[in-house]
Amino acid sequence: MSEPVLHVSDLRVTFRARNRAVTALRDVAFTLDAGRTLALVGESGSGKSVSSLAIMGLLPKNGSVSGGSIRYRGSSGRVTEITAASEDEMRALRGAEIAMIFQEPMSSLNPLFTVGDQIGEMLLLHSDLDAASRRKRVLDMLELVEIPAAASRIDNYPHELSGGMRQRVMIALAMVCNPKLLIADEPTTALDVTIQAQILDLMRRLQKELGMSILFITHDMGVVAEMADDVAVMYAGAVVEQAGAQELFHRPSHPYTRGLLHSIPRPGRAEGVRLQSIPGMVPPLHAMPTGCAFAPRCARADNICAGPVALRDFAANHRVACFHAEHGVAGV
Ligand SMILES: Nc1ncnc2c1ncn2[C@@H]1O[C@H](COP(=O)(O)OP(=O)(O)OP(=O)(O)O)[C@@H](O)[C@H]1O
Ligand SMILES: [Mg+2]
Repeated sequence: MSEPVLHVSDLRVTFRARNRAVTALRDVAFTLDAGRTLALVGESGSGKSVSSLAIMGLLPKNGSVSGGSIRYRGSSGRVTEITAASEDEMRALRGAEIAMIFQEPMSSLNPLFTVGDQIGEMLLLHSDLDAASRRKRVLDMLELVEIPAAASRIDNYPHELSGGMRQRVMIALAMVCNPKLLIADEPTTALDVTIQAQILDLMRRLQKELGMSILFITHDMGVVAEMADDVAVMYAGAVVEQAGAQELFHRPSHPYTRGLLHSIPRPGRAEGVRLQSIPGMVPPLHAMPTGCAFAPRCARADNICAGPVALRDFAANHRVACFHAEHGVAGV
């Protein structure tokens, strides 16, 4: 099998906050194969966004990679170790090869420039097209993301567009240089359900047409079921399970994944019935247990769980970080 587009292993990210160091990512590991969509799921604070910023080389100033590896295989087949790449190398990759869509389009669109200028700017940075060809390409992109009356929208400012339109502009901006890897961090959570479905459709269609790989960050398991080929589940700064989506839904093997799947509302379930949630809390970053971070909440935990636990092969294309994965947990 060819080298994956993205291979993250043992990734550690540390932040300096109020004179102390906190480890936000302890053990992130996942693999994204060419042309596939990998969903990165986990509750708020588990480290999904920090993982994506580390991949983009855009960690905030007080954060740094303190261990592990992020290998990216570019379109030329060249592999870049992102954790060791220079700012110049990263600048060349960002936008052109690796693009990102953020949750809130207003925070990443500049209110002072028209959407056409902003998308055109990407081409100015990463291509040698002249002004007329750039405008033509921007127009094609706006049409590709199905913005109605694109020829007039191209000269609109972001505030003149609806939320769904702005998210389409963000997608056009991310895709204009034909990236190989698209990172989408909760791209549809700010949108209503109908618009969300349209945007997801659009992303799937563009993926098919342009053949890119997608790292799709979400905490919505419904979206995972619709979008993902593979799923990596994060808990407290670590990936605890990765598997093909079907396999994960049918055979979740980490107790945390089972808990997460139990908490999805299902059609047909009587309203008012309390959905099962996992008792207990995620340990704070500065007080992580040395062994399995989920052990304090796990019905199956015993002495062995106090020791270091790492992802291991569980089945074909299925890895899990749990000593007891084979046994299952009654009721969880
Ligand atoms: N600049 C920072 N300084 C200190 N800690 C940070 C910083 N940025 C993130 N963190 C911490 O890193 C951890 C992971 O945060 P992250 O934003 O990746 O979570 P997330 O999984 O994306 O959550 P959400 O679903 O809410 O978006 C959190 O505990 C957060 O407080
Ligand atoms: Mg986030």
